[in-house]
Parts: sequence; structure tokens; C-alpha cells
Amino acid sequence: MCGIVGYVGSRSVSEFLLEGLHRLEYRGYDSAGIAVISDGEISVRKKAGRVMELARLVEEQPLFGNIGIGHTRWATHGETTDANSHPHLGGNGEVVIVHNGVIENHDSLRNQLIALGYVFHSQTDTEVAAHLMAHHLSEQLKLNSDEPCVDTCLRAVNLTLDRLKGTYGICVMFRDCPDTIIAARSGSPLVIGVGKNEYFLASDSSPLIGCTQDVVYLADNEVVVLNATGMKIAHRTTGRVQPSIQTLDQVSADIDLGNYPHYMLKEIFEQPTSVENAMRGRLDEGEATAVIGGLNLTAQQLRTFDRVVLTACGTSWHAGLVGEYLLEEFARLPTEVEYASELRYRNPPISDRTLVFSITQSGETADTLAAMRECQRKGHPTLSICNVVGSTIAREADGGIYLHAGPEIGVASTKAFTSQVTVLSLLALYLGRMRHLSYPAGKRIIKQLREMPEKIEEALKCHERVQEISEKYAHFNNFLYLGRLYNFPVALEGALKLKEISYIHAEGYPAAEMKHGPIALVDEQTPSVFIVPKGGIQPKVISNMEEVKARRGPVIALACEGDKEVERIADDVIIVPDVEEYLQPLVCAIPLQLLSYHIALLRGCNVDRPRNLAKSVTVE
Ligand code: F6R
Repeated sequence: MCGIVGYVGSRSVSEFLLEGLHRLEYRGYDSAGIAVISDGEISVRKKAGRVMELARLVEEQPLFGNIGIGHTRWATHGETTDANSHPHLGGNGEVVIVHNGVIENHDSLRNQLIALGYVFHSQTDTEVAAHLMAHHLSEQLKLNSDEPCVDTCLRAVNLTLDRLKGTYGICVMFRDCPDTIIAARSGSPLVIGVGKNEYFLASDSSPLIGCTQDVVYLADNEVVVLNATGMKIAHRTTGRVQPSIQTLDQVSADIDLGNYPHYMLKEIFEQPTSVENAMRGRLDEGEATAVIGGLNLTAQQLRTFDRVVLTACGTSWHAGLVGEYLLEEFARLPTEVEYASELRYRNPPISDRTLVFSITQSGETADTLAAMRECQRKGHPTLSICNVVGSTIAREADGGIYLHAGPEIGVASTKAFTSQVTVLSLLALYLGRMRHLSYPAGKRIIKQLREMPEKIEEALKCHERVQEISEKYAHFNNFLYLGRLYNFPVALEGALKLKEISYIHAEGYPAAEMKHGPIALVDEQTPSVFIVPKGGIQPKVISNMEEVKARRGPVIALACEGDKEVERIADDVIIVPDVEEYLQPLVCAIPLQLLSYHIALLRGCNVDRPRNLAKSVTVE
């Protein structure tokens, strides 16, 4: 949440900062701002609203210079006003900072600073850090007037950080040390791009693409001092750190929109490829199993586990529910799916024989990270299923599986969901084959998995039909999404997609559970979306459809071609390919993603930047 950029070198800094903020906008888009140092002065431009509006402001009032920081905000403390936008100046403008995270003790610090005479211009917790930084700087200057300015500034930063409770990714510039940026992290990610006589900073690697391939991921409690000729990283308690430079393998094409009007649509259509990439090199025909390197556990160790806990938030949690069914069916491993936000504060009995997986697209979700750390604190190895390479969860996990889905920029998760389900199928196959899943069963699963990219391609053919149906249903204000077994999590995911991007109230339920309460919602004004492809209990779901129709509820059904029974009952049918039940989420998610996309467009919503949301939720 919130995006940070920084640059020091010889480029024109405003251009890099604005382009970087544009790429980070998915992290928050309530307001944006930049600060640049030039001729010994810090200048700030900031504005409530999108980065585009900031760019307009910078065009009218340009900023020239070669060192600067920027921020795109997802509001936590204080409304979305110009004044609450970052960067924030501290003292009398001798310090400027941008911050991602939450400073929990901001209130008491603010009172102390007010008593010292500091004047606040915003309601943010960040301005507290800015003034505190200015305060420590002035104290340190009095005590150490002879030392190099950068050392004094670094001490001021460390003294300030010592007093902050909460989380931060923070970048600071000092008017009197005009060639230096100091940045630090505790709980909110920061990556440093290493160029030739230039350095870049960002909350994730997307702003660095096209600028440099060499990156260093700052770890918690590390602080970095950057100027055009060098970088020094130190752990705040243990001292100097030798940076490990890694290579980014993303290419700019991954973050370009191409011919698509929105990232969400682009990412929906990328799913045949992203699912293929999730499986690439991971299917072993000879042994009829999956090949999963990176778990850092031997087959012998893996066989000793007798329970699995999957923890995640939002869409990733829905993928986890599919994972539960898969792991129990293929590997007969009792599996629980826990909301990370609950797990982190509960004290569930996790034994040495429980295998814990954190599922996350971004690898930065605060609750998922905290739940993982809590499990690790108790001595349990925790593995990750993650998309963003080098993200905090991927780095801190004891092992894991990458999705290889490429950057997901649209705020509503689409391709990450199907990649997570694919990886969970591989995991279930792998763990199943080292238990009692037979060779022929493994072979059959592999064959079906191999067909999935083609089946998803086929599912995408419903696009025009979904567009038509969207026009008919876009004006409704309540929806039910109903499915059973593997399609129950798909129903939850379909409802979440609709809620988050079109602001329509939607509920996902196991279809049969509907009659225990939600059926009271059914009337002519409440459409139900039934996920009812072929399968063992399809007749039961058809009965649930009848129950809705009997109460005059409009019915949209996702069904396989030629299903006369469904066609007879439903008002509108969307065709999905016929695949094995355990792979149905991979094809049934597609029309639901498209349905929410088109309904949101018809209602004039911003599909890639839905209100109140941010892509990566790095606060509690
Ligand atoms: C929904 C969505 C969110 C995320 C959730 C977890 O479309 O994107 O519900 O799934 O915030 O995010 P990750 O997977 O990055 O941990």
C-alpha cells in the first residue's frame, strides 16, 4: 500500500519519478507527490487524485534536478487532500520524507512535537516522522557540528526510527545534504536499483524496469544511504551489510497495456499463458508426478507431514479453498485454510507435522507476512506460493513455489488466482504421489493439466456473450453467486470480483447452503449466478436453480455446451469447457472475471483502480 520512488544520478529526476509513480499507482491512488532538491532547496509538488493530475501540476510548475523522491498514497491517516499527500516537509523545510506504512504511536509523538513548537499542516502520521527527523537533526547538529553532514543526517534518521512504532518504508532527503537519499524499511518493502553512477528506489521493481536490471532488496531494519557514486547499507542494530545484487528478469512488455484498454482485461486474456508458465518444467510424465523444487524439504521429510494449513487473504484465500479440496482429494492430507489476519492473532495448534503455506500474489500482504512470521517464530517451517519474485514473503519463507504469472497490475486479481490454483494442483499431485495416489491417477491428472491452457483459451471465447449478458444485468444492485464443491470457492471469487470493481453487493455461497438463509434475498431484483458445469452433484445444483426460479429470481448459469436441463431453467447461459471437476475453477473463474469487468465498465467504474482499494495491502 502506498508506492515510493526515489532517484539520484544524472537523469532528469521528475520524469523518472512520475513514470515510476504511474507504474506504482496500483498500490494506492488517493494522491501523489514528488520532492526534488535543486540549488540547495527542496521543492514539493503534490496533489490529491491520480498521478496524471500530479503530472499536469508538474507540467505547469516544473521541477528540475537530479535527486528526488515521490509517493502515491493509499490513505490511512487523514483524508485524501493536497495537504495530506506526501512528501511531507519537516521542521522549516530542512527535511522531506515519503512513507509507506503506519506509525502507531503518531499521536503521542505529535503531542510531544507540538509542545516543542512544531507546526503541523496535515493529519498524517508521516508528518510526525518528518518533524521528528527535523528535531533530531537540529539536536545532532548542535552536538556534532564538525562531522560530515551525511553522518549527522543518518544519525537523525536512526534516532527517529528508534522512536517509531509500527511499519515503514521511508525515504528521506535533507536540504543541507543535497546529494543524498536515506531510506529504511521495517515491514514495508523497498528495492534499490543499481545503475552506473545512479541509484533508484521503489516499493517494488516495476519502476526500475527499463532503467536497470541490478537490484538489491532492502531487508527489515536495514537503512541505506545513496548518492550518485555509491550506496551503503547497514543493519540498524548489527551494522554494515554486504549488499547482494540480484538480476531482474522482467521485461517492459509485461507491464505495457499493449492493445488492451485495461490491465484487468489484459491479465484475464493472459491466463492461457500464465497457467502454462505455472506448469512449465513441473510435470514429470515418467513418474506421473509434479516436480517441485524450492520447497527445501526432502521427499522423506514431506512424507512425515500429516496436516496442511494454507493461509492467505482475499482472492489468494479463495485459491487456498480450492487447494484444500485438491490436497484432501489427491493427497488425503487434512487441510485447513485460514485467513491470515485471523491466524496471526490466534494460537491454533500447529504441530511439527503440520505443513504451512502462505499464498500471496504480491508477497507483501501485511497480514499474510505476519501470520507466516508467527508460525516461524513457533519453529514451524513455512513455505510460500507467491508471484512476485524477491518479495518479502518469498524471501522470508523457508521455501516456496513461484507462480511465474508475470506482473499483475490490475487491482482485481485475475491471473494470479488461476496460477495459484494451478500450483496448488501441482502440489496436491506431488504430495499425493508420495503417498497413495496411483500411477494411472497421476498420469490422468497430468494429461488434464496439460490441456488446461487450451481449455482456458476456449473459456475465453465467452467474451462476447458475457458482454451481452452484462448489459442485461448491469443495473441490478444485488447478486448471489452459487456453486458447490470445487465451484464454491469460485462463487466466492466471482462475488468478490463483482463487489470490488463495480461496487455491487454480491454474496458467494455453497449452492445448497442458500436455503439456510440467503434464499430470503431472492426476488426479481436479485440475479443468481450459478456455476453448474457437468459433475457428480450437478443435479443437486440444478435443484437449487429451480428453487431460485420458483421465487422469480433471474438466473445466469455457467454450464457446459448442450446442457439442456440448465438451458431450460436459466435465463442466460454462459458456456464453459467440460473439464474434470477438480480443474473446473480454472475455466469457471474466467467468465466471472469478464462479467465483473463488463458490468463495472457499464457502470462507469474504474476497473483497474477501484475506489478504496490498493493492490498490495501492506497495512493491517
Ligand atoms: C482481490 C484482491 C485481494 C488480494 C488480497 C491478497 O481481487 O486482489 O483480495 O487477493 O489482498 O493479496 P496477495 O495475494 O497479494 O497477498
